[in-house]
Amino acid sequence: MIAQVLNRQFVLDQLEEVRRELQEAATPERRTMATATEGPEIEPQDAALALAAIDEALQQETLASSGQKGFEPPPPERRGEEPAPIDDFSFFSRDAVLSNLQSALEHVLTEKEKLAQSDLPDDRRSFQDDVAVTDVSLADAPPPSRDLDGRRIFDKFSIFDIRWVSSLVAEGVRKLRGRFPFPDEAATAVQIGDRARLVVVGDWGSGLPRAQKVANEMRKVLDEGIAHQREQHVVHLGDVYYSGWEYEYRNRFLQYWPVRLGEEDRITSWNLNGNHDMYSGGHAFYGYVLQDPRFKRQEGKSYFSLRNDHWTLLALDTAWEDGGLQGHQAQWAQRTLTDSSGKGMLLSHHQIFSAYESGNDVLSEKIKPVLATGRVKSWLWGHEHRCVFYDPYQGIDARCLGHGGVPVYMTHAENDPYPAPAFYEYRDFIDKGLERWALFGFAVLDFDGPEIAVRYIDENGKEHQRERIA
Ligand SMILES: [Fe+2]
Repeated sequence: MIAQVLNRQFVLDQLEEVRRELQEAATPERRTMATATEGPEIEPQDAALALAAIDEALQQETLASSGQKGFEPPPPERRGEEPAPIDDFSFFSRDAVLSNLQSALEHVLTEKEKLAQSDLPDDRRSFQDDVAVTDVSLADAPPPSRDLDGRRIFDKFSIFDIRWVSSLVAEGVRKLRGRFPFPDEAATAVQIGDRARLVVVGDWGSGLPRAQKVANEMRKVLDEGIAHQREQHVVHLGDVYYSGWEYEYRNRFLQYWPVRLGEEDRITSWNLNGNHDMYSGGHAFYGYVLQDPRFKRQEGKSYFSLRNDHWTLLALDTAWEDGGLQGHQAQWAQRTLTDSSGKGMLLSHHQIFSAYESGNDVLSEKIKPVLATGRVKSWLWGHEHRCVFYDPYQGIDARCLGHGGVPVYMTHAENDPYPAPAFYEYRDFIDKGLERWALFGFAVLDFDGPEIAVRYIDENGKEHQRERIA
């Protein structure tokens, strides 16, 4: 990912340019020789659709940033310098239009203009520990500076191929408005062994150097499992950034996925739907990444179950309907639980509650009959880019595992109290540089008859927590 595209102000500057270009395209008669730029023709109706979406996004954005909330930098006395907002370095927007713009910018700057390059000299490329967010930036852009408030800013930078960017944004908006039809059917239920292993990571699809480190650590766990002849499954809890375009699945997800092509009969891969996967309508989620042989057991579906004699795991799609539960998933989950024995575990992208942000009301409401069976013991979710354990709440032990690949500040000291109902949060961070970047990680679930031994491992391979779910 390019540093500039991770900066909110840079993105908003480019949005102005795109808006201007689309205005021209929406009313072609206004275009003059002097204003015409190179690039593909954009259909006037596509331009108009994109313009309306952009205006709506801009209106929202002026009220409040759509970037990551709850990660205000630590106070100056802890840092010794004026704090910089997270939007300066790690702008992951929850607005679909801005996310599509980021996807478009990245695509054109990398593949067409070839302006992005690594800041790291080659001999340091293997020591990526130094890279908190990204080591890629625009070659021709002036270096970032800080304004009077200490914010990191990039000087105005004109993209030569703004017509290409605009055309891609218009395409993204068109796909967003015409979503991939929801395949309202579960994949064939999969029987797993009593000693199966599940490796779970959430919000990992950034392709950033530290997300790659997470994949390397996951791979070590898989290698160990292979040596012990364990049945193994790897689950992604969703979100490939910025907006689930095919090139993003290729370059940020499949390229680093810890299961290699050719291993699909030995290790099964699963991928849940996330809000970012749906920002371009889910077309590449269903039509591209789920078609990869490693994900074949999913049969192109976004909800599925795994079970053995003691446990029934139900993976839900909470993103096709953003923060909801599209189709007949609730009935399916209820039925599957009643037809099986043992305890239930849910897996999803979105949460129903949080110690730091709000839950998702639609999902909470729709999942009620499933929870009312009294069979759901635990729930693993992502979305919020943290690692948080919750006390039993609404009858379930929930674990948030959204700390797989999106850089956030660690805003709490190790001994700060946990806001209820949380009882643990992984709070280690990169202990160098000005910003305190929280460490990424994942979980390893080893089924052991009626119990599950769980280990929580960070990007450096350190096991920071373990527990038994029974
Ligand atoms: Fe998310």
